[in-house]
Amino acid sequence: MAKSFLSLLFTFLLSSILLTTAARALTNESSFSTKTYIIHVNPPPPVHTTQSWHLSFFPQTTSAPPPILYSYKIAISGFAARLSDSELKAMKAKPGFLFSTADTLVPLATTHTPEFLGLLSSAGVKPEGLWSESDFGRGVIVAILDTGVMPNHPSFDDHGIGPPPEKWKGKCEFNASDCNNKIIGARAFLQGQLVRTVQVMGNDIVDAASPLDTVGHGTHTASTAAGTFVANASALGSAQGTAVGMAPNAHLAVYKVCTDFGCAYTDILAGIDAAIEEGADILSLSLGGDSMMFDVDPIAIGTFAAVEKGIFVSLAAGNSGPQHSSLSNEAPWMLTVGASTMDRAIQAKVKLGNGEEYEGESLYQTDLMAGELLPLVYPGASVTSMLSIEWEGEKSILALWLMRCITSPSSLPAKFCFNNSLNMDVKGKIVICDRRDQMPRIQQGDVIKGAGGAGMILAAAQSDGYTTVAEAHVIPTSHVSYPAASKIKSYINTTGSPTATIIPQGTLIGFNSLHAPIMACFSSRGPSLQSKGILKPDIIGPGVSVLAGWLALPIGPNNIPAIFNMLSGTSMSTPHLSGIAALLKKANPTWSPAAIRSAIMTTAKNVNTAGKPIQDEELNNADLFARGAGHVNPSNANNPGFVYDIQPSDYVAYLCGLNYSDTQVTVVARRTINCSTVDPIIDVELNYPTFSVEMRPGCSRKVNRTVKNVGEGSSSYEVEIVPPLGIVVTVSPTLLSFSEGGQELTYTVEFIREYGTISTMNYAEGYLTWVSSDKLISVRSQISITFT
Ligand SMILES: *[C@@H]1O[C@H](CO)[C@@H](O)[C@H](O)[C@H]1NC(C)=O
Ligand SMILES: *[C@@H]1O[C@H](CO)[C@@H](O)[C@H](O)[C@H]1NC(C)=O
Ligand SMILES: *[C@@H]1O[C@H](CO)[C@@H](O)[C@H](O)[C@H]1NC(C)=O
Ligand SMILES: *[C@@H]1O[C@H](CO)[C@@H](O)[C@H](O)[C@H]1NC(C)=O
Ligand SMILES: *[C@@H]1O[C@H](CO)[C@@H](O)[C@H](O)[C@H]1NC(C)=O
Ligand SMILES: *[C@@H]1O[C@H](CO)[C@@H](O)[C@H](O)[C@H]1NC(C)=O
Ligand SMILES: *[C@@H]1O[C@H](CO)[C@@H](O)[C@H](O)[C@H]1NC(C)=O
Ligand SMILES: *[C@@H]1O[C@H](CO)[C@@H](O)[C@H](O)[C@H]1NC(C)=O
Repeated sequence: MAKSFLSLLFTFLLSSILLTTAARALTNESSFSTKTYIIHVNPPPPVHTTQSWHLSFFPQTTSAPPPILYSYKIAISGFAARLSDSELKAMKAKPGFLFSTADTLVPLATTHTPEFLGLLSSAGVKPEGLWSESDFGRGVIVAILDTGVMPNHPSFDDHGIGPPPEKWKGKCEFNASDCNNKIIGARAFLQGQLVRTVQVMGNDIVDAASPLDTVGHGTHTASTAAGTFVANASALGSAQGTAVGMAPNAHLAVYKVCTDFGCAYTDILAGIDAAIEEGADILSLSLGGDSMMFDVDPIAIGTFAAVEKGIFVSLAAGNSGPQHSSLSNEAPWMLTVGASTMDRAIQAKVKLGNGEEYEGESLYQTDLMAGELLPLVYPGASVTSMLSIEWEGEKSILALWLMRCITSPSSLPAKFCFNNSLNMDVKGKIVICDRRDQMPRIQQGDVIKGAGGAGMILAAAQSDGYTTVAEAHVIPTSHVSYPAASKIKSYINTTGSPTATIIPQGTLIGFNSLHAPIMACFSSRGPSLQSKGILKPDIIGPGVSVLAGWLALPIGPNNIPAIFNMLSGTSMSTPHLSGIAALLKKANPTWSPAAIRSAIMTTAKNVNTAGKPIQDEELNNADLFARGAGHVNPSNANNPGFVYDIQPSDYVAYLCGLNYSDTQVTVVARRTINCSTVDPIIDVELNYPTFSVEMRPGCSRKVNRTVKNVGEGSSSYEVEIVPPLGIVVTVSPTLLSFSEGGQELTYTVEFIREYGTISTMNYAEGYLTWVSSDKLISVRSQISITFT
């Protein structure tokens, strides 16, 4: 299914006014004579500066200044400019021109997570493992590319944090008093988007100057990555506790490159360019566009430039699950982050007239019904009324990445309870409304409230499975799973006068009927479209009903301004991993980005709180394309034994191995590459911590991996193999003995597809684990086999 435009991986609602304006923006765009392009050119020859080189691509004769939006220094070799078709054509003829892409918008893709992740003991007071070993990430700079930030939020208090390291060259584009030792930089790059909105809508609706967050998404992700401790945080009184980000002593550098309209590639590149130059250690991007070849994906190119400078990059896998091959951000130099649940539910139970009870979730916890059974109706049970809305479905530029787990229906029948679609009297009744992707769920309750309804049962769709989320609804609401919704609907079908009530249950931790983590239905899945030999996503982390900083915008039944709110999406899991990477970087300053990623991946958990395999949204065992290496386990990640390291130049050899042309590789590498002088690396042979291999019947394949001891001295590891069905896996040698720190050893894995096994499946999975002689360290590599 086609994803829509660049969006923040938003999972919350915006006003319908914005939605309709945005849709108009999209439909009218083609009527303009100039467009914004990203122009890739050869690196500047010695006689030029970067700027003069970029200017040389414009005609020298005109007096008007060239329409350059950004002249990039590091993220790409090139610039962004507004050009007509004929101007672009002239530019293409100039020597040094490589390649151009039109700018588009991409979508933007906690109180409890530290305990759930084992950073804090369950008593909630004593820092464990990684937090104490990393001094909470002190001194590390995490760059957040998002919708900006709300300064002066309690999560960004800088008490005890200390000044930024000397290398820091960032700027504060707020009033100086709004930055501090927590928020050490705040900048806005919205030229690309500004041009677009002025062109399309004739007015400037984007404040391009201020890094102030007016959406909430950026404040949420920044506080998740590196918010400091805030006592007594809650969302409408639920999930109460001390809110804290993953790296509470780290610094934040905020680059506003997105608005509620999404994020323009030109602006994202400008943010990456600045973050690299100013000295960030970690880049966190909760956004992503469609899967595309790496040389045409500005995010892939810009983040490669960052990795070459030793910067760790963490990016959202996308919210287009649960279908296979729905990923954003597939490049092997990124950490690609999926989303799963944690063991907390903000429960609101549904009790039916026949006594049956179903668990559901909601932040609306005021008990208005006091157990009284009210009439229960389902608008979807009778004739549907069609609605034509301007922002219909996939065409919405915003996309908002509202958990899009439903394959898109093309109309809006009554069952979705959208404005004007209700076909019945709902006064005083509880109304069942179906959930729909891109449908603002809280607005559904607003519609019921406006029509005099008493409550809402939000029914998950089949593809949502067991994924439910707690949100700040405006009437008593229970969001129930698909199996529960089916039973409630059939109760209505078979009962003369169905009744129900909604009973708030408060915040339940260690919630036992479902074992966390469970894959979120919306989390995008592999296999990778761009590189079948690399298993993606890499890792999963908490991304469902995550409590974090908010803008003091009104939420909930009484429109109470809240400084914390709960959101769901891979936007929320990504900054968890960014913060954890900051802790690892602090504890292990010499580790490369690939080493940090390897440590995170080889120590991940593949079982849930019940000790069983991690499940997907339908409670089947989650496959590798959903969970990647598994669920992040921060404390083990700080003691991985050995790592699978990768040098930046290996990625260039890898691109040559993908058969990219010299120009394509040159665009990504931002320096002239001649692949015939490079020893190519085939994708399965890149030194990745997982294996992804295509196999024909009777075929065999040998792959090498090189591992680097990050332990202190001598140590040895023995291999344990759980082969995929129908595959014989042989590892040689079976014992790795390191005699000193930093030592590298190579082993070979041979995969043989057995004759005679007729697989009805397209995929099979297994793993190999190197177990240390004292049994304390297990280094696991997932094995994914695709049968061809
Ligand atoms: C496109 O813009 C024109 C004005 O420039 C406006 O009249 C028209 O309604 C717009 N089209 C759409 C589909 O919004
Ligand atoms: C800076 O402070 C002035 C005066 O208080 C205020 O008007 C302005 O909006 C502030 N600017 C920012 C970016 O916060
Ligand atoms: C915590 O917040 C609740 C309501 O949000 C309030 O009733 C309570 O007094 C607060 N407790 C502390 C210790 O501030
Ligand atoms: C629904 O309609 C009412 C009345 O026309 C309007 O005030 C409200 O903004 C609409 N809500 C949505 C979500 O469009
Ligand atoms: C309810 O009954 C109708 C008509 O018999 C049927 O089509 C529908 O599938 C039933 N729905 C459920 C949820 O059982
Ligand atoms: C690259 O080209 C070689 C030679 O034509 C071919 O064997 C190989 O499969 C190609 N690799 C990819 C990833 O397409
Ligand atoms: C690339 O290198 C090969 C081998 O050295 C050489 O023959 C070829 O001309 C080079 N190509 C370019 C475009 O420089
Ligand atoms: C893998 O390692 C073996 C043994 O060291 C070596 O002979 C072989 O050439 C290596 N293969 C590749 C593709 O590097």
